[in-house]
Amino acid sequence: MPEGAALFSKHCAECHSYGDEILSDDPSAPDLHGFGTEGWIAGLLDSDQIATSAYFGNTAFVGKERGGTGHKDSKMVEFVTKEFPKSPDVRQKVATALATQGDGWKNVIEDALCLDCHSVGEGDSIALDLSGYASRQWTIDFIKDPAAEHFYGDKNDRMPSFGKEEKLSEEEIETVSDWILQTKFD
Ligand code: HEC
Ligand code: HEC
Repeated sequence: MPEGAALFSKHCAECHSYGDEILSDDPSAPDLHGFGTEGWIAGLLDSDQIATSAYFGNTAFVGKERGGTGHKDSKMVEFVTKEFPKSPDVRQKVATALATQGDGWKNVIEDALCLDCHSVGEGDSIALDLSGYASRQWTIDFIKDPAAEHFYGDKNDRMPSFGKEEKLSEEEIETVSDWILQTKFD
């Protein structure tokens, strides 16, 4: 087993699955296979998928009536379920903009109302900053401290701060991060 997969099994699979390759016994956080790819993001933005176990289904971001552990659906889950256009084309366009962050990407996500809650690079917002989302550095920093202010802050749902709490070394964090991003960058 590659080292990244071994680290994932040991430290992440308590909550996350990784597609069919690594199945959590009791998945309670998003499936990270394809994390950060256009396809993964398009699924997050799909009202039929965001509240399933592939994404936020078993987390504090989905209310108890729908199988989550939250008191009610979070703002993101509410937005995707009730307000975001259902058309696959729009979903795809926004997912591509966010995954590639090429020319004009900010306009695309602004038109899709994402900036009502998210910041990009500066300013206060109620939700995590989307600049560099799921890039190599973003993912390393997230694994180090998902409860940092520009990530989930006090809304972080159980994920340990592997760097800050010294549960994993810098090198191990880079290895597991590169491993979960393999489908994005290969
Ligand atoms: C105790 C449960 C738990 C463990 C262990 C855990 N996570 Fe998470 N993780 C979560 C939850 C819940 C989220 C949703 C966002 C949040 O609350 O931080 C999350 C979110 C993420 C995200 C952001 C993508 C998303 O869908 O929100 C990444 C990347 C991630 N985890 C990677 C990892 C890696 C890599 C490990 C192992 C080194 C790991 N996690 C271990 C619970 C966990
Ligand atoms: C009404 C506020 C709101 C709007 C509008 C909104 N979001 Fe979010 N978003 C949030 C919150 C809050 C979170 C943190 C998780 C949660 O509370 O559900 C989040 C989480 C996320 C995540 C993190 C998933 C991960 O990896 O952990 C991504 C990506 C995201 N939003 C993208 C978008 C995009 C793209 C749009 C526009 C189509 C959008 N959001 C619109 C509030 C919002």
